[in-house]
Amino acid sequence: MRLWGGRFEGGPADALTRLSVSVQFDWRLAPYDLMASRAHARVLHRAGLLTDDELSRMLDALEDLDRDCRSGAFRPTVADEDVHTALERGLLERLGSLGGKLRAGRSRNDQIATDLRLYLRDHVRHIVSRLVELETALLNQAEQHADTPAPGMTHLQHAQPVSFGHQLLAHVHAFTRDIDRLRDWDRRAAISPLGAGALAGSSLPLDPQAVARELGFDSAAANSMDAVADRDFAAEFLFCAAMIGVHLSRLGEEIVLWASQEFRWIEMDDAYSTGSSIMPQKKNPDVAELARGKSGRLIGSLTALLTVLKGLPLTYNRDLQEDKEPVFDAVDTLLLVLPAVAGLISTMRVNTARLAASAPDGFALATDLAELLVRKGVPFREAHEAVGHLVVWCQVNDKTLEELTDEELAKVSPHFTSEAREVLNVPGALAARSAHGGTAPDRVREQIIALREIVDAQ
Ligand code: ARG
Repeated sequence: MRLWGGRFEGGPADALTRLSVSVQFDWRLAPYDLMASRAHARVLHRAGLLTDDELSRMLDALEDLDRDCRSGAFRPTVADEDVHTALERGLLERLGSLGGKLRAGRSRNDQIATDLRLYLRDHVRHIVSRLVELETALLNQAEQHADTPAPGMTHLQHAQPVSFGHQLLAHVHAFTRDIDRLRDWDRRAAISPLGAGALAGSSLPLDPQAVARELGFDSAAANSMDAVADRDFAAEFLFCAAMIGVHLSRLGEEIVLWASQEFRWIEMDDAYSTGSSIMPQKKNPDVAELARGKSGRLIGSLTALLTVLKGLPLTYNRDLQEDKEPVFDAVDTLLLVLPAVAGLISTMRVNTARLAASAPDGFALATDLAELLVRKGVPFREAHEAVGHLVVWCQVNDKTLEELTDEELAKVSPHFTSEAREVLNVPGALAARSAHGGTAPDRVREQIIALREIVDAQ
């Protein structure tokens, strides 16, 4: 069954049919297409184009079709070009020629744009819920480790000690921005294309604003050509998804490092690690690696859609059918990855003793020593130089900064009296970084409270 047979002699070539068919992937839009059809039926009725009796039979049939779609009693066939074609067939099977009245005043062009917006607005809510679960898992771990010192790194080299909780919270901040972006995205996605018809609107007395309201949109599109041509909402969603992917990938990369023999910062729960088919001893961080790897397909989906869109003239072009698979794949990918990463985080055991012991490694307290000199009036430039020399001396003599005697320190600068020893300890170094945003455990605990409030409101 086709929706466009009238002016053609003979049927389409097999090769065309195979190229053109989209029902194998757009069928998941069926519930949203039916929702939009119910709203459209009411608008036709209000316009005097369906009688009371026709409307009630139409709504009953749509209800019945919806039930059968959900139960699997009604399925698309290979002969159905797309979701709209399949559902019109279902309606005709239930209503006979009355079913053919629903197509008045609308086109697959405004329908598909509406369906995809409805689908995405719905699924973004699920994605946000999964993000909140991940944030909560990170917050709970951060709460346990506000006071756990860890090596803070830049360039993957020991830099300055930090609270391990502070590091976990850094990831939470990234995910709160992702949710904020999705909420902001929804404002722009909440525009209904229905009523635009093929491109120019309809000569029938329809009411696009009423349909928009009924479908939970903020308003109907102000320009019918933009309504059917615009896929910004899909591209923007894919950017949001790719950004989440990048955040998951960076977290995943850290977990891979932390779980390695060289770091041994965390022990992954058995339920969230995998083994090797040949090496009996192996315990692998596949969840973290898949989180990292799947960011590739999220970025690819964004690139794919932007590339499809970039040369299209207004308005609808069949190229736009290529919008759906990247969007669906991104939704599926996020809904698959997020719960696994949340589970990995909430069940991992942190090797507190090892983190604390390695926090001062790599002369990580050198900045604290230089800042002590600054507090005594030494220009930072000179303090930096002096402590640099001290580090070299320590390397040559195989000593850590903490092991230096008062005499050894005094040789570097007369300012290094016994207070130097007070700054050469990790808890002191953490507590000293107490300005807003710093890693002091008290600040970290405040951050947790503030973030919990943000996450609760998300
Ligand atoms: N399957 C099409 C899509 O996904 C539906 C719209 C088709 N419209 C048309 N005029 N051929 O974009």
